[in-house]
Amino acid sequence: MKLLEIKNIYKNFSNKKVLHGINLDIENGEISSIFGYSGEGKSTLLKIICGIIKQDSGDIVLNEKNINNLEPYERSTTLVMDEPLLFPHMNVLENIAFGSKLRANKKRHTTSNKKALESPKEIMGLLGITGLEKRYPSEISMGQAQRVSLARALIVNPEIILMDEPFSNLDIISKTKVRKLIKEINCELKISILLVTHDIEDVINLSNKMFILNKGEIKDSGRPKDVLKKPSSIETAFLIGTENIFDGIISEIDKKNNIVKIRLKNEKPENIYIEADYYGTFKVNERIVFAIRPEEVMILREDRGASRSVRENHFTGKIISSVFTLRMMEILIKSESGLEFKALIPFHAYEVMHLFEGKTINISLKKSAIHIIEKKKR
Ligand SMILES: Nc1ncnc2c1ncn2[C@@H]1O[C@H](COP(=O)(O)OP(=O)(O)OP(=O)(O)O)[C@@H](O)[C@H]1O
Ligand SMILES: [Mg+2]
Repeated sequence: MKLLEIKNIYKNFSNKKVLHGINLDIENGEISSIFGYSGEGKSTLLKIICGIIKQDSGDIVLNEKNINNLEPYERSTTLVMDEPLLFPHMNVLENIAFGSKLRANKKRHTTSNKKALESPKEIMGLLGITGLEKRYPSEISMGQAQRVSLARALIVNPEIILMDEPFSNLDIISKTKVRKLIKEINCELKISILLVTHDIEDVINLSNKMFILNKGEIKDSGRPKDVLKKPSSIETAFLIGTENIFDGIISEIDKKNNIVKIRLKNEKPENIYIEADYYGTFKVNERIVFAIRPEEVMILREDRGASRSVRENHFTGKIISSVFTLRMMEILIKSESGLEFKALIPFHAYEVMHLFEGKTINISLKKSAIHIIEKKKR
């Protein structure tokens, strides 16, 4: 069921166009994320939803009711900012209770499947900040302050919590805890959450649905897994960190077997081809761009015969660099034909396969991993 509908929202600041025609729907009980570059209008959109700033045109509909003309405190939406704005002269308990006083007169309509938390004590327990009641904001850590601010949002029992980069000021340990907390709040209380972030990891870890805000519009939306796999344009591909992007020309289409053969642009005189699954409406001789996610570049084990699936798009190359990242090895491979591929493999696989810089290896790219993302304009 749709909880929140953003319909054709426009917003300019003086002459600067910020949002032009934003449309998005948030499902009840889900975590959704808005992802985009800095300055694209993500915070502006959240402020419009909760009523702190007014849109130039368009509608905000919550539970099928247009809330354009409601004041922020009448809206059942609360905003949690990157910096927890707590009142310095009030202790933690007073800060949390403040929100409920503010909305005490308001008759709330809660959707039936949502569990309401009314007492500050209960909320503090859920957020793991019991014991901090008497402390003042200057006497707690940033991570604790962020939870107090979350508690203050929860006490008004909102339909949806809007979070604007809630992790940006947290260290990695606090960040992991707050992430977990957000999931718990969503699961236990069935509260919908709309999260703004510019960390793609947060999007993947937390959200059921993601929206990409770019140049004032929602460019891609869907389950993070799908959007990451099939970005709709080269711009989105760059934004979400797609690597291994190549130029090519459609050289052959085999509609019977659903295969498209792409000729790659490369430094060497001989032609190099890659086969991909055929979908869409490509024509022979059309220029295209395609991408392969680094985790889909398969390094073949020397000790095993190639199975049918790994026989696709075979290349031999040398490892020119390997870098240890948080969870994976990031490997750069240069093929004999001069193409460079980035691959991501688990650290143990790197060890098991005795990989090292300078080693010659074979890689395979599954047809299904070749994603044609844009027809290139001439
Ligand atoms: N009150 C305002 N007056 C004038 N311009 C504004 C105002 N608020 C925001 N802007 C401008 O609108 C654009 C969008 O700002 P916004 O803060 O919504 O971006 P954002 O996507 O949240 O960026 P970030 O990721 O850096 O937080 C920016 O160019 C910003 O300078
Ligand atoms: Mg912002």
